[in-house]
Amino acid sequence: MDLNDQRAVVTGGAGTIGSHVVDQLLDAGAREVVVIDDLSRGRVDNIAEALERAPERVKLVEGDIRDIPLVKKTIEGADLVFHLAALRITRCAAEPRVALEVLVDGTFNIIEASVEAGVKKVVASSTASVYGLAEEFPTTERHHPYNNDTFYGAAKAFNEGMLRSFKAMHDLDYVALRYFNVYGPRMDAHGKYTEVLIRWMERIADGQSPLILGDGLQTMDFVDVRDIARANILAAQADVTDTVYNIATATETSLLELAEALQRVMGSTLPLEFGPARSVNSVTRRLADISAAERDLGWKPTISLEEGLRDLVQWWRTQR
Ligand SMILES: NC(=O)c1ccc[n+]([C@@H]2O[C@H](COP(=O)([O-])OP(=O)(O)OC[C@H]3O[C@@H](n4cnc5c(N)ncnc54)[C@H](O)[C@@H]3O)[C@@H](O)[C@H]2O)c1
Repeated sequence: MDLNDQRAVVTGGAGTIGSHVVDQLLDAGAREVVVIDDLSRGRVDNIAEALERAPERVKLVEGDIRDIPLVKKTIEGADLVFHLAALRITRCAAEPRVALEVLVDGTFNIIEASVEAGVKKVVASSTASVYGLAEEFPTTERHHPYNNDTFYGAAKAFNEGMLRSFKAMHDLDYVALRYFNVYGPRMDAHGKYTEVLIRWMERIADGQSPLILGDGLQTMDFVDVRDIARANILAAQADVTDTVYNIATATETSLLELAEALQRVMGSTLPLEFGPARSVNSVTRRLADISAAERDLGWKPTISLEEGLRDLVQWWRTQR
C-alpha cells in the first residue's frame, strides 16, 4: 500500500512511539494524520515539530479512546489506524479496572469504529509481555502466551485475539506488532513510572554511578523507538494481514551491559552501584526471533544500542 494520500489516525500519537509514527507518516506522504490522545502521558511537545512542519496535515484530537462517539467521529473517513494508546504495565498492575477500560474496551472501540469506517488496515501495538518468561530463545511468534502473569500482557493478548476475531467476522485487515524493550528520544522523562534509563542518566549527569537494583543480570532485547515506528509504517504498507510480528533487535543485553553502554556514551567511568531489587521481576530474559518481520515486512533494526543511547542522551539533555 502506498501511504501517499492516505488519511491515518494515530491513537496515543502524542506518546513516545506514536509521535515517531506521526513523523514517519508525514515523511511517507500521508495526506492527513489525526492524533487522538488524552495527554495522560503523551505531550503536545512530542508532536510540536510535526505540527509546525505540516500544520495543514496534522491534527490533534485531545480525547479518550473510551469515549465511543469521539472515537467514531475521529476514525470516520480514515484509511489507516495505528493503535498505540495504552497504559504502562505498572499502571495496569496498580489500576487493573482502568486498564480493562482503556486497553480492552478502548481497543474494542477502535476496532468497532474501524469496521464501521471501512478502514483498510489497523496496525496495533502489542508487546513481548504476552510471552511472559519465554521457554525458548530466540523467541518466535509461535511461542504460547501462557507464561504471562501480568494484566497488561493479558489485555494485549486479548487485543490480538479481538483483532483476529474481527478479521474473521468483518474482514478487518490488521497487523499486530509485539515490541520488545523500547527506548529512545521522547521517552517519558517526567512521569511517575520513570524508566530506569532516565534515572541512570540523571545520576550520571549528577556525577553519580548508575544504580542497579538487583544483580543486573536480567537481559532485555532493546530496540530504538525510530525503528519501532518504521515497523509500523512497513506493516501498513506490506501486503500482509491477520498476523503478528516480533519487533526487536535480536540482541540480548543485560542491565549491567546497558548501564555500561550508557556510561560510555555519557563519558562516565565510575564503578556501578548496586541496591536491593525492589520487586521480583519474573521475566529474567528476553531475546526475540525477528526473522518473520524481516521476511514479510522487509523490516530490520538499523540503529545500534550505542547510537540509540547517544541520541537518547542528546534529546534528554535538551529536556533537562
Ligand atoms: N515502550 C515500550 O517499551 C513498549 C513495549 C511494548 C509495547 N508497547 C506498546 O506501544 C504502545 C505505545 O507505547 P509508548 O511507549 O509510546 O507509551 P506512551 O505512554 O508514551 O504512549 C501512549 C499514549 O497513549 C495515550 N493514552 C493513554 N491512555 C489513553 C486514553 N484512554 N485515550 C487516549 N490516549 C491515551 C498517552 O497519553 C500516551 O501519549 C502502547 O500500546 C504500549 O503498550 C510499548
